Formats: sequence, structure tokens, C-alpha cells
Amino acid sequence: MFRTRQLVCSSKDLRSSNLRPSLPAPQQEEAQSQNAPPKATAPPAPSAAPTVAVGPTSQSPPDPESEKTAAERYQALMAEVQQVFDAATKGGKPDPDKLMRTVKRAYDSLKTDDSMLTETVRQRASDYTWALRAANTAILAIRLGLEINYDERRSLALGLCALLHDIGMLTIPEEVLNSRSLTPQQMKLIRNHPLESKKIVENWGEKFAWIGNVVVQVHEKYDGSGYPNSLKEDQIHEFARIIGLTDTYEAMTHPRGDRDAHVTYNVLSQIVDLRNKEHDPRLIKALIHIVSIFPLGSLVKLNNGSIGRVIQTNKLQSARPLIEILIDTQGNRMSTSQFTNLAEEPMLYIEDPGIDESVLKQRT
Ligand SMILES: [Fe+2]
Repeated sequence: MFRTRQLVCSSKDLRSSNLRPSLPAPQQEEAQSQNAPPKATAPPAPSAAPTVAVGPTSQSPPDPESEKTAAERYQALMAEVQQVFDAATKGGKPDPDKLMRTVKRAYDSLKTDDSMLTETVRQRASDYTWALRAANTAILAIRLGLEINYDERRSLALGLCALLHDIGMLTIPEEVLNSRSLTPQQMKLIRNHPLESKKIVENWGEKFAWIGNVVVQVHEKYDGSGYPNSLKEDQIHEFARIIGLTDTYEAMTHPRGDRDAHVTYNVLSQIVDLRNKEHDPRLIKALIHIVSIFPLGSLVKLNNGSIGRVIQTNKLQSARPLIEILIDTQGNRMSTSQFTNLAEEPMLYIEDPGIDESVLKQRT
């Protein structure tokens, strides 16, 4: 069980540190007390971006990370996030430059292609850790930022916020996290985690303090139904709106201890549903564009009877994504990976886009 006291007390000395903020606040005007009435906020200004040195200069040797496959880059990202989280539970704070280099690698990869996005749906670790969730949410958030034309500085700031947005959850006792029906007191504890996230990053010193004003708003909802301050629409920082949406999408498309993953095809329907006013419609539109009409990660049945997972969408031919076949035409689970690129298979097409995840359990 993680101890809140460990997380927030051991960094007190940092408050008086002489560190100069190299990651300026996305919106200085948001540096308001949690008890103060919410202020209308605009999307982050260009000056919101981090100023730390993150990339190689022309004299720098090539980053060996760039030679890695998407799967290796994804695993490295998750491992680094796990290290940050492990240290945080012992009261340690991350190295801001190292963490920003990690975010930069994810950004560079996503700017080149969607292979890291593909990894968020391919890697279905049995242990659904906070580090894995944070890595997935950050990848989705950075990709969504690119979709709405975020520049590098803003993308890196967004990615850093996404990686750390749920760090307050580490303070929640495991028995509460594993509880199937929460008592009012336990619910209060859970709903307090954005404030814990803010407290933790602020206690890491000035280089991280600005992140607090974003992470505390991630569970606010566009229609004002969120918490802790019932902010709505543009009162919510755009970074928090993006992270809130991608975190919701990530959570719904992955299995939890008490349930299977929702059918990915239906997740978008739920988020897009006109009755659902919880998210910014402009950002929902961008998310749909990223995950395509056959959403990334969804299980689909082909007309030859095989079942597979969409692991890469096809922007030019959205009905012809890349599929990882998991169950062959005879109904048997595949023992080795086999991929079918529908763009190169004119006789094959998706017959059923809404296959339930439970089909995989039945065939193991
Ligand atoms: Fe959260």
C-alpha cells in the first residue's frame, strides 16, 4: 500500500530550492487556489511549452533510442514511467530533463508514424499498472495534440502532464482500488486524487509545479459534471480536456480487474453519443480521426471467418486497416503472430467490426 505521507512530505525541502522553472506554467492565470472561483481559461499560450533542452543538436551523436523498434520504444517509455512512480512512492522526485527526453522520444516517434500508437493496443500486459495507463494516455494525448496542430513545445508539455496526471492514485490504498463497491468515504478518497496529483508535482519543485494546475483538472467534464471544481468548457485547461478524453478512451478499451475491455467499436460510440456532453466535441472529432472507423485496438471478424485486432489504421482507405490475426479461419487461437494488411488483400473485408473481447478467452 502506498503512503500519502511518503509521497508528499519528503519533498518539502524542494519548496525552497533555487531551481529555476524551465517548464513554465501553461497558464499563469490558472495558478489559483482550489477554493477560489473558477476562472475562464483559454487554450495554453505558445509560451506554455517547456524550455529544457530535449533534442540532439547538429553536433550530437544520433540518439540510440531512434534505432529501436516501436515495441522497444514503448517498453522503454513504460519502464521509465514505472521508475518515476516507484521513486515517487518512496518520496523521490524525477529528473526533469530525463523525463522530458523520454517524452521527446515518444513525440519524435509519433511525429514520424503511428507505430507507438499501435503498441498501446498491441501490448495487453496482464498487469494493468498505473505506469502502463500513464504511458498509453500520454501516447494518445501527444498524438491527439498533433492532430490539432500542436507544435513541439506544446506537445512535450502536454505529454509530460499526461504521464503524471494520475500520480495521485498512488496514494490510494489498494483495498480501495480493488473494492467493487465503494463506501462514501472511499469514493471521497478516489475523487480527491486529482488534488493529490497536484500536491505531489508541486512538491517536486518549480520545474514541475506548473503541471499541478493541469492534472487537478483532468476529471473535470465539459458539461460541468466533473470534479473537484465542476469547471466547464473553456474553464478547463485544454491539456486537461485532452488528457481527460484520452484517459477515458484508454480505460474503456483496456480490461480492468473487475471487467473485460469494452468492445472498442462501442467505446467511440459511447464517447461520441450526442447525449454524452462530457468531452469537448472538437477533441472527440480529432480522436475519431486518429482511431479511424474501425478503431485501433478493436476486434474484428473477416469474411474468411478469422478474427483479429486492428493494429494500424489506414488513413487513405479507412475500411482496410492492418489486422493482427488472433483466431484463424478454423476457430483456433494463433500460436504465432500473423498479420493481414487488408489494403493488400482485395478479397478480404471486415464482416463484423464489433467482436467482443470474451471470444479470446473462449479460445485459449
Ligand atoms: Fe485520474
